[in-house]
Amino acid sequence: MKNLINKYIWILLGLINSSSVLAQVPDLIFDIEKPKKQIVIPQTLYGVFFEDINFGADGGLYAELLKNRSFEFKQNLMGWKTFGNVSLRNDGPFNNNPHYVHLAPTGNEWRQTGLQNEGFCGIGIHKDATYRFSVWARTTGNSEKETITIELGDLGEDTWGQAFCSAKITIDSPEWKKYTVELTSPKSSEKSFFRLFLESDGEIDLEHLSLFPKDTWKGRDNGLRKDLVQALYDLKPGVFRFPGGCIVEGTDLETRYQWKETIGPVENRPLNENRWQFTFKYRFFPDYYQTNGLGFYEYFLLAEDLKAEPLPVVNCGLICQYMAKHESEHAQIGELDSYIQDALDLIEFANGDTTSTWGKKRAELGHPQPFNLKYIGIGNEQWGKEYVDRLKLFVKAIRSAYPDIKIVGSSGPKPDGEEFEYLWPEMKKLKVDLVDEHFYKDENWFLKAADRYDSYDRKAPKVFAGEYACHASTYGRNHFQAALYEAAFMTGIERNADVVEMATYAPLFAHLEAWQWRPDLIWFNNLNVMRTSSFYVQQLFSHYKGTEVLKLTIDGVPVTGKEEQNGLYASAVWDEQNNCYIIKVVNISNNKQTIKLNFKKKALLGDFADATRITLAATNPRLENSITQPDAIMPKVESISLQNISSPTIESNANSLQIYILHIKH
Ligand code: AHR
Repeated sequence: MKNLINKYIWILLGLINSSSVLAQVPDLIFDIEKPKKQIVIPQTLYGVFFEDINFGADGGLYAELLKNRSFEFKQNLMGWKTFGNVSLRNDGPFNNNPHYVHLAPTGNEWRQTGLQNEGFCGIGIHKDATYRFSVWARTTGNSEKETITIELGDLGEDTWGQAFCSAKITIDSPEWKKYTVELTSPKSSEKSFFRLFLESDGEIDLEHLSLFPKDTWKGRDNGLRKDLVQALYDLKPGVFRFPGGCIVEGTDLETRYQWKETIGPVENRPLNENRWQFTFKYRFFPDYYQTNGLGFYEYFLLAEDLKAEPLPVVNCGLICQYMAKHESEHAQIGELDSYIQDALDLIEFANGDTTSTWGKKRAELGHPQPFNLKYIGIGNEQWGKEYVDRLKLFVKAIRSAYPDIKIVGSSGPKPDGEEFEYLWPEMKKLKVDLVDEHFYKDENWFLKAADRYDSYDRKAPKVFAGEYACHASTYGRNHFQAALYEAAFMTGIERNADVVEMATYAPLFAHLEAWQWRPDLIWFNNLNVMRTSSFYVQQLFSHYKGTEVLKLTIDGVPVTGKEEQNGLYASAVWDEQNNCYIIKVVNISNNKQTIKLNFKKKALLGDFADATRITLAATNPRLENSITQPDAIMPKVESISLQNISSPTIESNANSLQIYILHIKH
């Protein structure tokens, strides 16, 4: 009502003054003021959640280019083609990965022996880039030296393809030894192969064949794909959750994620099945495994590089409850000691000094300084009494050994319903610090949920919106409208930053040819990366999160898309570091709207020195970025001048997210 009266006063003033002011008549007025109680925005508010799904780790972020490098897949030669005289053996030098191949001549110099690897949907090779091949090998015959040739080539239409660069290695010892050679490619190819020939007459054994780009993120050995980490870095995430997701739970206890198996020499890290091999029959990937080459040490390093708080999630003795048919498939209460010990040891691994057992291991891996772990998640999407009973024991042990560590509990796989209603009170009773909520929901849900947290209990544990994405009715698409609706919802997260401590979109990565789940935030093929419009929404909220929440209302109520609010969603923050107000406006209507900003308290006033407007919009709501047109939807940044600087009028474009940054004059 007040807004309506204000609007008429403005129209009247407009009529009295001049016709040019008429153009400025606002459709709505945003009242902006400091709330009675200060709400500081947590640095962790917008983060990323990484899981090895959609070939996000092996075949994705983890830069290894060869598939099944240690011959440990259930079908030991999966990913390889052999020719000539190649046999599989299983008494190799690495006890966790005992299989290797034995190569012998064919007896005819024209008939070659060797093997060829297909990579992950091919091997991505960049022109002029250098690749490092390594192999553990030994000679096994009488001769002391044997030679192998390695090649990279183009598959093209051909089954075996043509080589475009090669190198030779001499195997000069009957003892297992690591050999390394570098090759620089004269061309780019999205679908290369790797091939190896035995050149000499003797026999050799080969184990752990590995091919990495030399130019990994920060140039690390066993490193990460640079362009994909760059995308994460560009998000400026405040928290980094890993390693899952359902893979934490596993298909059964044997295949649950066990962090201790993911550290130490990569050659000896045991392979694990990836449950996303078979979760969806229509996206079946029997060649999807976890080499654990990207393990917990690498995850902690990455969190540090990203300047994000690490948030590891550990298994709590429950396997994926969707899959489990019987209670007996879970670890029983009396069997939880080793699970709890794993959690305690993890905290020591991250934070312990170098004289502690696990702190010492961290130092030996190259990081004597602690990783400063503050959070730990216990269980992924667990539910029911079986979860509560188990979580209780973890909470007791962690509180007693590490009272400062914040514990994240689960509210189940859905954002409402029986399990959710049961779990929240239980989480309060257990006094966990945060409760993880997951929602993969449709457009309507996202728009309605913009006020979800307005009524949350301020004294309860904080919320970690740990997995969410708008799954639009045109299923699975990363189109602009879905991203816009996520933005609408996120204004509600921001307004309630005293309740929501962190929020992470999910899933993070997807290989264009090997995904199991969509939509996803970042897509890639073997050469390139594509940032979705959801990515840009996350990035904009993260970059412009500010330091303090401001109260932004229309007629005293938050702007959550109500009918009389013309399809607008909005939030406002103050940024102490940059001395500016930041107003985020999501307009889901088809109309441009004029909005007057009414900074209510004098304390908030100040002259605006300059203003910036960032717009994320698309030519049509179904538009999405693609690998060939990755920039179809991109934020547009412009400087604008504001009239009536102490109470300016802004415009909100139809179907857009717009961020206004108003810098205050000193
Ligand atoms: O993000 C994909 C999956 O969704 C996660 O693994 C799981 O936690 C949720 O069900």
